[in-house]
Amino acid sequence: MSAQTNFYNRFSFLYPLVDVFLKPQKKKFFNEINQLPHGNLLEIGVGNGSHFYLYKNHKITGIEISTSMLNIARKNQTDNIELFQMNGEKLDFKDNIFDYVILSHVIAVADDPEKLLTQCLRVLKPNGKLFILNHFTPDNFLKYVDRIFNFCSKWLHLKSLFYIKDIKVTDQFKLEKEIVLKPFSYFRILIFAKP
Ligand SMILES: C[S@@+](CC[C@H](N)C(=O)[O-])C[C@H]1O[C@@H](n2cnc3c(N)ncnc32)[C@H](O)[C@@H]1O
Repeated sequence: MSAQTNFYNRFSFLYPLVDVFLKPQKKKFFNEINQLPHGNLLEIGVGNGSHFYLYKNHKITGIEISTSMLNIARKNQTDNIELFQMNGEKLDFKDNIFDYVILSHVIAVADDPEKLLTQCLRVLKPNGKLFILNHFTPDNFLKYVDRIFNFCSKWLHLKSLFYIKDIKVTDQFKLEKEIVLKPFSYFRILIFAKP
């Protein structure tokens, strides 16, 4: 078990406190997702599933690596959602089967974001879309906060200094839309298409 999985297993009970700060962005994120035509959707790293109620249209396959987070997610599970314990960096799905892949606050905590996005590319159908909600280090005063915090952020198993351009496999996607969220442009929604 990776140190990161161990971390989420131990601190799953505290996640609702973190979630309070993430809720407003998630509403905007899922609002974008709900505009999409009905499709086969994979969400990687569902966490405690507190956002499942925000999905309105799709058939959802959710995966999560941490047993504790997954057990809580199962309590929030609805009829349109199937859940599996799985590592997003080694997906146990065939190629080209999902219309949409969703990563909500997952890429900066994954052990290897490059592997994670490579798997997203593999399982997406051609023209399929990858939706990412995350913090990305902005070009304002917050880059200094990220730099300072980066030294200790490894204890929280996240990368505070984080740039999407550092993930090389994104070159194989087409960036279709970027929504910069207030305040301070710290959080962004990125929508990529698989060519
Ligand atoms: C910050 S939480 C976000 C949870 C949820 N997506 C949300 O927006 O509230 C990150 C979650 O991703 C999970 N995770 C991290 N790396 C993963 C991986 N490689 N495969 C599957 N889940 C992963 C963690 O266990 C944790 O539950």
